[in-house]
Amino acid sequence: MKAAVDAAGAHAPAGRTVRVWDPLVRIGHWTSALAVAVAWLTHEGPAFVHDNAGYLALAIVALRTVWGFVGPERARFSDFVRGPRATLAYARAFLEGRAPRHLGHNPLGGWMILVLLTTVALTGLSGWLLTTDAFWGSEPVERLHDLAADLLLLLIPLHVVGVILASLRFRENLVLAMLTGRKRAG
Ligand code: HEM
Ligand code: HEM
Repeated sequence: MKAAVDAAGAHAPAGRTVRVWDPLVRIGHWTSALAVAVAWLTHEGPAFVHDNAGYLALAIVALRTVWGFVGPERARFSDFVRGPRATLAYARAFLEGRAPRHLGHNPLGGWMILVLLTTVALTGLSGWLLTTDAFWGSEPVERLHDLAADLLLLLIPLHVVGVILASLRFRENLVLAMLTGRKRAG
């Protein structure tokens, strides 16, 4: 039987798929992506939609963060967050076309995930602060909110480009995998 190997060293027959992303990761991903898009598109109003879409994104990021410590193996930060040295080595290998495939997130994707989660959290939290008595109308908080929201507009396309490049490099549809939760085993 033909066997294949992934970065974790797991051997599997060709054609077989394995479950990688649990429902919380998948539903959370697409719901938060939609919520961020709705919050962005409604920043000029209605405030009710803008604020609640932002709160939804914030709640999912909070849940995902907890899940990163207590969730299944592939959802855990410990599975995909690597140190700077390993991440740079992976980036170099990727550029040279010899990066190993990861069944979970790869080290570059892992850092992008941390940056995205942090920036969505920063946007949502600063937005919430603007509704409190203490920070209502606060210019620094408004600036932080605008800056974090603008940063998202830069990070999201970068994230999508990363997903496309990795999909091409490893000949697999990562968007489909984020929908079905399954990837080819080897
Ligand atoms: C507001 C927009 C978005 C945000 C905040 C976001 C955030 C994230 C996060 C946090 C993850 C990690 C998933 C996890 O383990 O929980 C992730 C993974 C992923 N995202 Fe997004 N995402 C966004 C938009 C998109 C879009 C538009 C696409 C598709 C074109 C996409 C495709 C993916 C894929 C395929 C993965 C899995 C990557 C892998 O296989 O390692 N994302 N995203
Ligand atoms: C990820 C979620 C969010 C995104 C992407 C987002 C995005 C934005 C953007 C682009 C603006 C316009 C900034 C400008 O005028 O240049 C804005 C303004 C605003 N947002 Fe949000 N927002 C989010 C969450 C929230 C939340 C949760 C709240 C409050 C509950 C909120 C409250 C506000 C308020 C009060 C303003 C007007 C003040 C200002 O101009 O900074 N936002 N938001």
